[in-house]
Amino acid sequence: MKKLNFLLIGCGRISKNHVAAAAENAGLMELVAVCDLIEERAQEKAASLQEKTGKRPAVYTDYKKALEELEIDCCSIATESGYHAEIALDCLRRGKHVLVEKPMALSTHDAQLMIQEANSRGLKLGVCHQNRFNAPVQELHRAMEDNRFGKLVNGTARILWNRSMPYYEQAPWRGTWEQDGGTLMNQCIHNIDLLQWNLGGEPETIMAMTGNYLRDIAAEDFGAILIRFKNGAIGMVEGTACVYPKNLEETLSIFGETGAAVIGGLAVNRVETWNFSQPAEQDERVAALAGTDPTDVYGHGHNSLYADYIRAIQTGTQPLVSGTEGIKALKIILAAYKSQKTGQAVRFDDLEFSTLDMNDSDVRYHSEEAAQ
Ligand SMILES: NC(=O)c1ccc[n+]([C@@H]2O[C@H](COP(=O)([O-])OP(=O)(O)OC[C@H]3O[C@@H](n4cnc5c(N)ncnc54)[C@H](O)[C@@H]3O)[C@@H](O)[C@H]2O)c1
Repeated sequence: MKKLNFLLIGCGRISKNHVAAAAENAGLMELVAVCDLIEERAQEKAASLQEKTGKRPAVYTDYKKALEELEIDCCSIATESGYHAEIALDCLRRGKHVLVEKPMALSTHDAQLMIQEANSRGLKLGVCHQNRFNAPVQELHRAMEDNRFGKLVNGTARILWNRSMPYYEQAPWRGTWEQDGGTLMNQCIHNIDLLQWNLGGEPETIMAMTGNYLRDIAAEDFGAILIRFKNGAIGMVEGTACVYPKNLEETLSIFGETGAAVIGGLAVNRVETWNFSQPAEQDERVAALAGTDPTDVYGHGHNSLYADYIRAIQTGTQPLVSGTEGIKALKIILAAYKSQKTGQAVRFDDLEFSTLDMNDSDVRYHSEEAAQ
């Protein structure tokens, strides 16, 4: 099959995973161009890809120019979150498939528009929730699909990480309502996606309390969410950017009538509990997965995510994390924001909300000393 030509838009912190995925999937795709408003960053990624594959992609500072000059099949978008929707819609309207970093957008309206635009044009929209491809997570999901948990009761997504002020200062868009959101939207969205994916998918009601305790940003640095799913199961989220002094764990737990699974470690990659009433042939394989942790918290899932996304384009199927899947975690977080703002439980189905709706809500719980 013909290799697909990709353009990477945004060459900041996460772009190295996109470049690595392009090199890893060189038999399926070619990253023909990289683009950043800051040329030096794009040059750096071009050099990095050349080192890995021997081929140097073209460098652009204007993605529209790249789309006019080159034959591009797919655009990977890794800019600040607040630009995802605008750039994705522009690329889709130019007939390009789009793979967008998380969160796919910052409002329900924009995310729905992106899904509609892709569907109406027969284009594939993918969202980078790469942790779905972690080997233990894939095994857990299979166990859920095979009904090994029996009746699902509860599950937890714990994200106990540390993001210090230099992390926010390095890229001032982080922690703003216009471009990002807080730790729930930026760091916790992956595990929230895994929680909903493995605990029944369709949320009914969401209640949350969030707050900003330690970091000098507009949005929350801690959030607690309760999710009642339509199947009755209850999901809980404990997400923080404030753990002293460094990242502690990202853990997903799923509990049912006949099964209990806990996948933890630094980034949901280490099997900690794997108990089922009925043994299955894959349990030995799962036991062998215990103890592996990625070298950084982003893991290595982008490689598999790209391969899956390309396969979807080639075969006319949907990628594992399509726009329709990507919007679910986004909506849970926006519902949590609305719940914090209103003090009420929020119905998932009717939700229309944007991070911008939080602009007038003060979530600060700083001590007077810390605020000075
Ligand atoms: N999947 C993951 O695990 C993961 C991890 C980290 C970040 N992210 C997401 O990736 C995105 C980028 O995060 P980051 O930390 O790399 O940000 P960053 O600030 O390091 O990089 C963003 C880059 O995009 C560039 N940019 C902005 N507008 C552009 C445009 N119109 N054309 C070309 N380039 C443009 C900026 O100049 C900047 O270099 C965010 O949405 C973030 O949430 C995902």
